[in-house]
Amino acid sequence: MDSITVHGGSTLHGSIPVSGAKNSAIKLMAASILTDQPLLLTNMPRLADTKFLGRLLQQFGVSVTERDGDDGQETLFDAREITSTFAPYDLVRQMRASFNVLGPLLARTGHARVSLPGGCTIGARPVDLHIDALTRLGASIHLEEGYVSAVAPDGLRGAEIEFPFVSVGATEHTLMAATLAQGTTVLKRAAREPEIGDLARCLVMMGARIEGIDTDTLVIEGVTSLTGGSWSVIPDRIEMGSYVCAAAMAGGEVRLTRGRAGLIQSLTDRLVESGVEITPTGDGVIVKRDPAVRLRAVDVATEVYPGFATDLQAQFMALMTTAEGVSVIHENIFENRFMHAPELMRLGAEISVHAGEARVTGVERLKGAPVMATDLRASVSLVIAGLVAEGETSIGRVYHLDRGFERLEEKLGACGADIRRVKGPPVEGPGDDH
Ligand code: EPZ
Repeated sequence: MDSITVHGGSTLHGSIPVSGAKNSAIKLMAASILTDQPLLLTNMPRLADTKFLGRLLQQFGVSVTERDGDDGQETLFDAREITSTFAPYDLVRQMRASFNVLGPLLARTGHARVSLPGGCTIGARPVDLHIDALTRLGASIHLEEGYVSAVAPDGLRGAEIEFPFVSVGATEHTLMAATLAQGTTVLKRAAREPEIGDLARCLVMMGARIEGIDTDTLVIEGVTSLTGGSWSVIPDRIEMGSYVCAAAMAGGEVRLTRGRAGLIQSLTDRLVESGVEITPTGDGVIVKRDPAVRLRAVDVATEVYPGFATDLQAQFMALMTTAEGVSVIHENIFENRFMHAPELMRLGAEISVHAGEARVTGVERLKGAPVMATDLRASVSLVIAGLVAEGETSIGRVYHLDRGFERLEEKLGACGADIRRVKGPPVEGPGDDH
């Protein structure tokens, strides 16, 4: 198992290219099941999660070809023939988003058997909304021995579905299935995360009829088949936001390229309040901060998009550990997403957590220590804290990072961070969960 070692104290200067979004790529990959024609995804991040989902798709008979294209990395998916519609526990357990193959398999073939994903470190994360929505689309669903068996021998039927609350995964999952349902589907209280807009636009490129993209009501007119085509994955706003926090923490001047400033507005607004200089550019932002001047503590509450992203909460908390004053952080999306707090405290941070609220009292300095990554975004928060911690911070369980951050040590190292990967024995699969 690899670890990452950071020596704190270097300011960052340079430029970091943003990769394609993991959370868009893995849904677009699942969408390749909906068509018997090739789907080319460009601007594809090469991550443990995309590799893993590629292997799952191959089990269904999808051919997956990674290659270098004009616009960087790309992957061609060809689901001409679906030879299996079974997704075993061992695979779904390791990456819960692989549950989202259920709807596309069902819509394309009329049947599927997919393991329930189980819980995860950041919360219970049930999939009841997904199952209710597919049932409303006419699927007959049975839960047995930890598996969801779904059949729709005469195809899915359009329906009006109002989600009880906003769910990114349930919106994407139902959207994909509804593209091939007979008649009209209306999804109310749909999530509006940019990755859903990306998926919907790709589906439209494939021949789907979808209205209301980027709003909370999606209207899908089912079609009998979808075509293939080529689609460029949207930039990763969470990766971008993480490097913005890293630059704000270490100080210096860093330019993020190949991104979109508008997608991280809720983060950059808070950073400006805190004293960071942020300049939007045509394809990203420039982050500037004088390391001699302490940032001011700012409160945040995580919300669905366009609110402050839960996937940036840990990184923001890391930044607040050395700000002047007390920052109150509310986590409203997941019930257990403060696992990084005790690890940050090992570096000298002062944090108290009560239910969904964390109070971070800024300290003058952090001190390096061995720490353990608990999930993907938590692990990058430890890297961010390590950038200013005196001495050496060594972060274990780096496989979490590798699920969602492409060449992190290379990207930060190119800007002057003293960071390196220490090789350990390989880990099977992407790890445990997400
Ligand atoms: C997606 O998870 C992302 N994952 C998460 O990113 C992200 O944190 C989350 O959306 C919120 O933005 C992927 O896109 C692969 P939800 P998802 O359904 O779809 C509850 C990362 O680090 N819920 O919007 O699972 C759920 O438990 C990951 O990249 C139900 O109760 O999130 C949670 O409390 C972590 N029943 C809330 O809703 C359901 O059927 C929001 O979850 C579905 C969800």
